[in-house]
Amino acid sequence: MIQKVRKAVFPAAGLGTRFLPATKAQPKEMLPLVDKPLIQYGVEEAIHSGIQNIIIVTGRGKTAIEDHFDKSFELERELEQRHKTDLLEMVRAISDMIDVAYIRQKEALGLGHAVLRARELVGREPFAAVLSDDVIDAEIPCLRQLLDVYNFYGASVLALMEVPDESISAYGVVDGEPVSHEGSSGKLFRIRNLVEKPKAADAPSRLAIIGRYILTPEIFDSIAAVEPGAGGEIQLTDALKHLLRNRPIYGYRFEGKRYDAGDKLGFLRATVEFALARYDLGSQFRAYLKGLFSNGRLD
Ligand code: G1P
Repeated sequence: MIQKVRKAVFPAAGLGTRFLPATKAQPKEMLPLVDKPLIQYGVEEAIHSGIQNIIIVTGRGKTAIEDHFDKSFELERELEQRHKTDLLEMVRAISDMIDVAYIRQKEALGLGHAVLRARELVGREPFAAVLSDDVIDAEIPCLRQLLDVYNFYGASVLALMEVPDESISAYGVVDGEPVSHEGSSGKLFRIRNLVEKPKAADAPSRLAIIGRYILTPEIFDSIAAVEPGAGGEIQLTDALKHLLRNRPIYGYRFEGKRYDAGDKLGFLRATVEFALARYDLGSQFRAYLKGLFSNGRLD
């Protein structure tokens, strides 16, 4: 019997150094893409994938995240008094959306370390991990795609994407053996090896891990067993490599467009494309961009 995935862990204790100074006093997970904080995109993806239990690993200065998913009595009263029903419903929906638990990571010692902090809350069951600065726009939510693979094999599954040579060293990279899956080949891989942030010359492939994982609970022992790796941090990729000694791991090239919203340029791309796709803003924003173009501001 394959155990159901009910919980999703959101590591959110990082220092957000790629986005300073915006992240000096504000968590990067709260940076808004158009009008919604990054972490809410990830949480909605989990919910739309059928996962309701959210565990957020926070750190110092991250109370804005807890407040965001909490009830806001003052704001709700204010909106009620001003008869702003639509806004009131939107604000309420955020706190009603999830059953959320928080755990602190006292020091930012790496992604693996952050996931290990959730061990007690997860227990002995499979779970999802979501890095909210990877924002994925997909018809079928990326986590749902991974869950479908998990439900078939009962093993850990990583989201994969092909990336160009010049950026490969920013990722965990896999060596995988293609496995045919539901009639298509080249999408599913059985992982043979993983390397965190390799130099382009040492990378085993161009298939990078993107921040969505389905993990079986043995990962916790593997995280506890590994030494600090790239950047002196406890790396989840190293723990996966350790897990590979006695468990199979799969990688899946998901369908969808991923934005690295933790990076300034990636964040701008996502902002422009999400704004263009919005029913309430898209046409005006498109006209504005066209205006810039015809005024020669984009030359
Ligand atoms: C983390 C992981 C890395 C993965 C990446 C995806 O790195 O350690 O394996 O490829 O997320 O975004 P980070 O971006 O936190 O340096």
